[in-house]
Amino acid sequence: MSAKLEERIALRHDDHVFVLTGAGISAESGLATFRGSDGLWEGERVEDVASPRGWHRDPERVWRFYSTRRIAVTKAKPNPAHLALAKLEQELGASYFLCTQNVDNLHERAGSQNLVHMHGELFQSCCDSCAREPFVDVRLYETKAEHGRCECGGRIRPNIVWFGEVPFHMERIFEELNRCTVMLVVGTSGVVQPAASFVHWANQRYGNGESSVRTYYVGPEHPANAGAFTQVFQGRAGEVLPRVLKR
Ligand code: OAD
Repeated sequence: MSAKLEERIALRHDDHVFVLTGAGISAESGLATFRGSDGLWEGERVEDVASPRGWHRDPERVWRFYSTRRIAVTKAKPNPAHLALAKLEQELGASYFLCTQNVDNLHERAGSQNLVHMHGELFQSCCDSCAREPFVDVRLYETKAEHGRCECGGRIRPNIVWFGEVPFHMERIFEELNRCTVMLVVGTSGVVQPAASFVHWANQRYGNGESSVRTYYVGPEHPANAGAFTQVFQGRAGEVLPRVLKR
């Protein structure tokens, strides 16, 4: 990490900013993160509710888990961190791109528009058998009778990327990784691939030492890949982001 620590993230007029967010950005909105005490994976085994095998074994259990999360997200509100990123997008326009690992909709509800959900969206469902387009779905599937069937006979499942499945929008994400000059990562433990490698890919863009992508992390703890960042701003996203993005 650089010896000279910045108080703010200074942006130049020709910068392209790539933002990656994780569960930590929604923590101050009251949504549980995955790892650590009280995390979502504390009460559930990942393989039961977030893998194709878990789905085929017990779809009701999977739907109970995601229905509970639909209720929690419906009650939650965007916090100052989501709002600070939406404001940055307004200022930067097409020079800004947001990739979130989160399946909640708090970025959209804060006003973000240019974003992709690489791990899917909580309020979308799809078919587990055919290639029909994912569709908006806010229902709660709490009993077996409510479990939907597709016209093809397959089961309706959450449009969430489970372990062992390929993240969405990777082509667009690579395009944006290839043009960013600033990377801002917020609230993610840096252990789930491929998102954990984005900072390494950004760093490797310039092999000749002439220039480099400036990479920043915001969160209360150092992530597993902290050593790859130009600077870590330690603290809660809702407090740190509005301050470091002030222009
Ligand atoms: P994790 O639960 O692994 O990490 C959450 C991170 O947020 C931790 O590093 C915390 O230190 C940080 N954090 C907590 N409170 C914060 C706050 N107020 N402000 C900023 N940061 C805070 O969640 P992710 O890294 O997002 O995938 O997990 C990545 C993926 O693993 C998820 O998308 C999910 C999960 O399995 C799938 O479901 C496919």
